[in-house]
Amino acid sequence: MRTTLDDLAAMKRLGEKIVMLTAYDYPSALICERAGVPILLVGDSLGMVMHGHDTTLPVSLDMMVLHAAAVSRGAQKALVVADLPFLTYATAEDAIRSAGRLMQEAGVQAVKLEGGAQIEAQVRRLVDFGVPVMGHLGFTPQSQHQIGLKVQAKAADAARKLMDEALMLQDAGCFAIVLELVPAPLAQAVSERLAIPTIGIGAGAGCDGQVQVWHDILGLYEGKPKRHAKRYAEIGALIEQAVKTYVAEVQAGEFPTASNAAKMDEAVLSEALYGR
Ligand code: KIV
Repeated sequence: MRTTLDDLAAMKRLGEKIVMLTAYDYPSALICERAGVPILLVGDSLGMVMHGHDTTLPVSLDMMVLHAAAVSRGAQKALVVADLPFLTYATAEDAIRSAGRLMQEAGVQAVKLEGGAQIEAQVRRLVDFGVPVMGHLGFTPQSQHQIGLKVQAKAADAARKLMDEALMLQDAGCFAIVLELVPAPLAQAVSERLAIPTIGIGAGAGCDGQVQVWHDILGLYEGKPKRHAKRYAEIGALIEQAVKTYVAEVQAGEFPTASNAAKMDEAVLSEALYGR
């Protein structure tokens, strides 16, 4: 059975931690299913980790639909949530059209929107029409040129605004809210004040759940690990070693061997090449 919004509400009530992980393609969705991840996020972070952009801003709705459809084909049990990309939900009408494509063409069960007051009308309209919406407050990557890539809501007025916006998103019908790069004590206070689950990234252990980016936890990203991420494996190094071995074996004539190829009866080959 697929994870439902009721399951998530029950997990919050029972104090069971909620796990969300990003997925961008069919094989990673299959692995997450086998590992028991209850929520898969097709994040617009795919613009960076899958397509090599510096920010999420170049991600289009077509890109999201393509990746989300692949994830949906691999996910039978996880709730699949997809980001609405930059400026595809500027108005309620835009939001309905964009979410419609992700739900109808890509088969996701929910969408995620970044922001507070500026998306209230969009969230209300989506929820009115039966679209489950996840909110996203704190560091909202689509606004990174405006707010800077840093921990948000550290000052009292900004922290109060974040709390107010979290309550507003809950009232507007969001079923959960991502809190990204928010001071841990504030994220905990928001989590305690809300009836819906918070899912943190760089927001401490007081959130009701956690989300991480696939490439970060698997060591598929170059460079220093981010403070808010934990590497559970060094898959990038493993893949690099495997590819180097493949290159070396082909160059040395060690691959393929006879067992990697189909045999052919010599008489048949001779007939094909030289006739009867
Ligand atoms: O796009 C994304 O991967 C996200 C998560 C970091 C929450 O929004």
